[in-house]
Amino acid sequence: MKIAILGAGSMGSLFGGFLAEAGEEVWLVDVWREHVEAINNRGLILVSQGKEKNIKIRAVTDPVLVGEAELVLVFVKSYSTEEALRNGLPTIGKNTMVLTLQNGVGNAEKIAEIVGREKVLAGSTAFGANVLEPGRISYAGSGDTYLGELDGKITDRLNLIAQVFERAGLRPVVTDNVMGVLWTKLLANVGINALTALLKVRNGQLLEIGPAEVLMEKAVLEALKVAEAKGIRLVVSDPLGYVKEVARATANNISSMRQDVERLRPTEIDVINGTIVREGKVLGIPTPYNESLMLLIKALEKTYL
Ligand code: PAF
Repeated sequence: MKIAILGAGSMGSLFGGFLAEAGEEVWLVDVWREHVEAINNRGLILVSQGKEKNIKIRAVTDPVLVGEAELVLVFVKSYSTEEALRNGLPTIGKNTMVLTLQNGVGNAEKIAEIVGREKVLAGSTAFGANVLEPGRISYAGSGDTYLGELDGKITDRLNLIAQVFERAGLRPVVTDNVMGVLWTKLLANVGINALTALLKVRNGQLLEIGPAEVLMEKAVLEALKVAEAKGIRLVVSDPLGYVKEVARATANNISSMRQDVERLRPTEIDVINGTIVREGKVLGIPTPYNESLMLLIKALEKTYL
């Protein structure tokens, strides 16, 4: 399958690497020139548990060079979604499937406005990765990758993507409740991302620092109230236990928000804790913990942006 990956940071590169290794025609598209050049010169290097794999894969800064793809995987940061999709339009033809696996909720809707809702699928992944240097990615946590159609139908194209992901070892799970999947993952991001960025700790450490664990619980419980009021069917029976399990399973990861803060880049706070604050206001549900986490991250961003 010809696959274009819009956004070849840690997760885009990781998925691209796995898919290329499984024999798919993968094109990484990213504005980060040094990373693209390193991949073209030396291959993409994936590091896990001290072992390195070198994967030959095409990387470009200009999506025009890719041409039309069968599948476009969107992995850019949520605040770059519109720009990446507009620039990436040359990769999207009449029958191209566009799958977002980005953090947060609302990305599928933004993409649908640009490419048309019928092309869009969504999902979330529990894989975790970090960029070590241009062209070099490490990955620690792995987990299931949920995929679904926005209207919940189980279609042939959904099963086709799942087969491709299965061959690549990306642990696909097809779902008829992608909103439930996105909100379940959102709970993990609500509980983990801002706190790890503020405290400069790895995900697992949140469970070793008593007051941090309390803050995690308070933020997740607020988010849970919002999800319940919205009628979201979560895909786990013990949401708080699930968030702690994600922190445990990705104990060694540096969360994406901590990576953003350390690289002095904008964060995805608006689509994570910010979503809970916005939706809470609409529903009349107080969200003081999420609002404080959001304001602290926004204040931190102001010190460097
Ligand atoms: O954003 C992230 O870093 C990841 O979604 C997660 C699950 C928190 C693991 O690091």
